[in-house]
Amino acid sequence: MLQLELTDQTGILTDMEWAAAVAAAGPVLARAQAGEARYADSLGWLDPTVWGGQDWAERAAALAQKLHSFADTFVVIGVGGSNNAARTVAEALDLPGGMKIVWAGNTLSPHAMNRMLARLEGRSVVIDCIAKNFETLEPGASFRVLRRYLCDRYGREEAARRILCTGTPGSPLEKLCAEQGYTFLPFPEPIGGRFTALSPVHLVPMAAAGADVAALCRGAEEMAAALRSLPAAQNPALRYAVLRHLLWQKGYRAELLSCFEPRMKGLFSWWEQLFAESEGKDGVGLLPVTGEFSEQLHSLGQFIQDGSHFLFETFLQIKEQQASLSLHPDGVQDGFGYLDDKDFEDLNRAAFSATRTAHSATLPCLTLTIDRVDEKNLGGLFYFFQFACYLSASLLGVNPFDQSGVEAYKGWMFRALGKPGA
Ligand code: PA5
Repeated sequence: MLQLELTDQTGILTDMEWAAAVAAAGPVLARAQAGEARYADSLGWLDPTVWGGQDWAERAAALAQKLHSFADTFVVIGVGGSNNAARTVAEALDLPGGMKIVWAGNTLSPHAMNRMLARLEGRSVVIDCIAKNFETLEPGASFRVLRRYLCDRYGREEAARRILCTGTPGSPLEKLCAEQGYTFLPFPEPIGGRFTALSPVHLVPMAAAGADVAALCRGAEEMAAALRSLPAAQNPALRYAVLRHLLWQKGYRAELLSCFEPRMKGLFSWWEQLFAESEGKDGVGLLPVTGEFSEQLHSLGQFIQDGSHFLFETFLQIKEQQASLSLHPDGVQDGFGYLDDKDFEDLNRAAFSATRTAHSATLPCLTLTIDRVDEKNLGGLFYFFQFACYLSASLLGVNPFDQSGVEAYKGWMFRALGKPGA
């Protein structure tokens, strides 16, 4: 189980105040643990064995193995909730046995598109177009380009064997698959994109990348069992949600999630989307931002320490670094003699501790600790944040499962492009 701890030298928040607010939020936790009827059409993720679990893990692994028997490159066409979770896993883990994953459908830049196509040269390619409603411009436009690319390269029949689509049953995408002979996978209807990390939407590309998706699902199942039964005082998801809410009430407007492992960059994007789309509505919500340390200590660090006081920080601490690299002396007087025979592990740990001590002097800091980066812990982390986000949005009084705010720019864009009915 992950741990959560508050380090705050500013006196803004005490452990006692936190504990009292957690106790008061007991009814919100009870409602989320049971799953509220008003959100029934969005809670397909709450029990991760329904649209995921060992059964789907096996099916995803078998499909990935079949594809890997004739292809070495898997193109994920998808944006936002149809991209971020698989990307988190593929970027965080070293997966030598998997297929090369290429990300598409997440840009409208011709330069980026051409670069993506260039990465397919000389490779044996399969594609998975992931689109819940098949209306989003980026995946729709990219899918057209990649379909043509595959047909030109392999001919229509062989291209069809190399095309998967993941969409809502009954959607235009399913119809297209039936007409063209593409494999169709279900995008679970009662789960919105950003809550699909533990469903077939992402298990298939994760398995294609070479991840042990059975372990990932086990991690999620264990986390779900704990968070859906632990009482308020021991429930880390509620404690995290309440802390965010208390800080919101005290005037903080942004949460900075930071980590000293660059391989967690994919998780940063996933986490940003989850909280931004779930909470940023009706004029409220904390802006989720991220800090890739130690690099961004040399850019954001100044502001975090000394700039306007509207953000608090959550450190994602990873206990085992799972790697080491020693700094043996080489006889050159380079001014770094104090590092002789130390390890990068020591440097990274010292940087984390020093940063937390320094930042907690001017802003409230939380530390969320996991043991190591592996499938089981990533599965647990996905569920933890999803459940915490549900609780946090409930405390804020907003519906976590809609995102009407993103429709405004789409209307203008569709009209500019002449989409019928826009
Ligand atoms: O969380 C959400 O529902 C959204 O962010 C979607 O994931 C994103 O807009 C992509 O949608 P679609 O899969 O329909 O293309």
